[in-house]
Amino acid sequence: MEKKKVLAISGSMRNPSFTERMLDLCIEGMGEGLEVQKFYPHRMKIGPCLGCWACWKKNAGVCIQKDDFGQILNAYKEADYLLLAAPLYFFGLPATVKNVIDRLFVILEPGQHKSPRGGTEHPKRYHRHSKAVLISSCGFPEFGNFDLLRQHFMKISQELDWKWAGEVLVPAAGTANVPRLFDSKYDLIRNAGAELVTGSISKATTERIAEAMMPASDYRKMCTANFRGGLVANLTRILIGIKAIARLAMTSREVSYAIKRSTM
Ligand SMILES: Cc1cc2nc3c(=O)[nH]c(=O)nc-3n(C[C@H](O)[C@H](O)[C@H](O)COP(=O)(O)O)c2cc1C
Repeated sequence: MEKKKVLAISGSMRNPSFTERMLDLCIEGMGEGLEVQKFYPHRMKIGPCLGCWACWKKNAGVCIQKDDFGQILNAYKEADYLLLAAPLYFFGLPATVKNVIDRLFVILEPGQHKSPRGGTEHPKRYHRHSKAVLISSCGFPEFGNFDLLRQHFMKISQELDWKWAGEVLVPAAGTANVPRLFDSKYDLIRNAGAELVTGSISKATTERIAEAMMPASDYRKMCTANFRGGLVANLTRILIGIKAIARLAMTSREVSYAIKRSTM
């Protein structure tokens, strides 16, 4: 049987990147027997779309820029899954990732027609309907910080005929620095990958992945202390971390007690 193909975009410039970790866990959860191609747009030579319309008017479906985008386009044409992993930058995509999306203009055909959703769209050159997943993390604690990005990704998926297949979103990503606190999240992200292979990532899994591991007020204090540095700030940061770990241990104990009671 032919292997399913995954096109993964890893859009963080940080190394190590938390968002890339999420991407890798999701791929791990998807299991073996996949052909994964991962691209780092910021490490590639990819010019911005020139808006010259040459891919519509001169050479149908061919960009006049001969750069590394061709590698992504080749993978795109065959992809069964599209995993777009990018940290939230000013409530949207980092410029280098948006740049890749803009270059996908080449897959649109000239012309407009009525879309099934009632608006207008361009016909497409390829009809793969790849399953598309948005993976992102952000530094603020509220899930609502992803609102614009989620809406944007949904719109792009519709316009490019992707089959929107779910979201893996982690706010308050700075919490990942507290040891053990995100362990359960990492399992859930693997689980999201497994769900993707059999269908799409469930709303319940997305919500659990996004769950806060400490109150927003503690998180803000911890992050502020983190950047401030110094003895008092370090102590504050450590104490908040310990409080969160203790809270987690207590919740786990309560859950296992409840399970035990329910099976008695
Ligand atoms: C240029 C820039 C813009 C950012 N904008 C936001 C933002 O709008 N909202 C937010 O919550 N975090 C924002 N962040 C924080 C990152 O989204 C967050 O630290 C993320 O987890 C980084 O992921 P990474 O380790 O994969 O790079 C921004 C960070 C940078 C560097």
